[in-house]
Amino acid sequence: MTQDELKQAAAAAALDYVQPKLDNNTVLGIGTGSTAELFIEALARIKGQLNATVASSEASARRLKSHGIPVYELNTVNCVDFYVDGADESNRALQLIKGGGAALTREKILTAVAEEFICIADESKLVHTLGNFPLPVEVIPMARSYVARELVKLGGDPVYRETVITDNGNVILDVHNFPIPQPLAMEKRINNITGVVTNGLFAQKPADLLLLGTTEGVKTLRTE
Ligand code: 5RP
Repeated sequence: MTQDELKQAAAAAALDYVQPKLDNNTVLGIGTGSTAELFIEALARIKGQLNATVASSEASARRLKSHGIPVYELNTVNCVDFYVDGADESNRALQLIKGGGAALTREKILTAVAEEFICIADESKLVHTLGNFPLPVEVIPMARSYVARELVKLGGDPVYRETVITDNGNVILDVHNFPIPQPLAMEKRINNITGVVTNGLFAQKPADLLLLGTTEGVKTLRTE
C-alpha cells in the first residue's frame, strides 16, 4: 500500500470512530495537512450529520466550506468534542511533533480545548524518539534571530522557513538535528523563550488516540 492509501485508511477509521457519536450538539475540530484533508473528504460524504466544525487553519476552513460543511470560530462555540488531525511524528506515548503545515499554534489551541484528540497518521510517523522530523517553532517575526540563537544553545540547528507566514502573521523556525528524548521538558523549555508563540511538541497534551494506517490494517494506540 502507498503512504497515501495508509493515510486514507486512518482517515476512514477516524470517521468510523466519530460518526456513531455525532449528535446535534457535537462540535468537531478539524486539523491541517494531507491526512486531515482526507478526513475532510470523508466527512463531506456525511455532511448532513454535521452541525458545527472548527478548523485549525484557514486552508482547512476553506476546504470544509467548499463542501458546505458549517465552520465556526472557536470563540463562538462552548466546547470541541473531538479534534481530528495528523502528525509529523508520534512516539508510543502519543507525544507528537506537529507543524509541518505551519498550523501548529491553532492546532495546539484546538488540542487544548478538545475533549478527545484523535490523531490519524500512516505508520511511517511512529518513531521511538521524536526529533528526526525538524521541530517547527512559531515565532514573532522581530524575535526570529534571538530565538534562533537560543535554539542553538539548546543544541539544535534552526532553519528559517522563508516562504511561510502563518495564519497568525508569524514566522516558522524548523529545528534540525535535534533528538528529543524528553518531549515534555523540551516543550516547556522552548515555549519559555521570549518571542516563541509555541513549538510543535505536543507532549503536555498528547493525542488520546492514534489511528495508525499500517500494511496490516489500522492499528489503534491509546495513551495509558
Ligand atoms: C500541520 C500538521 C500536520 O498534521 C502534519 O504536518 C502532518 O501532515 P500530513 O498529514 O500532510 O502528513 O501538523 O501543521
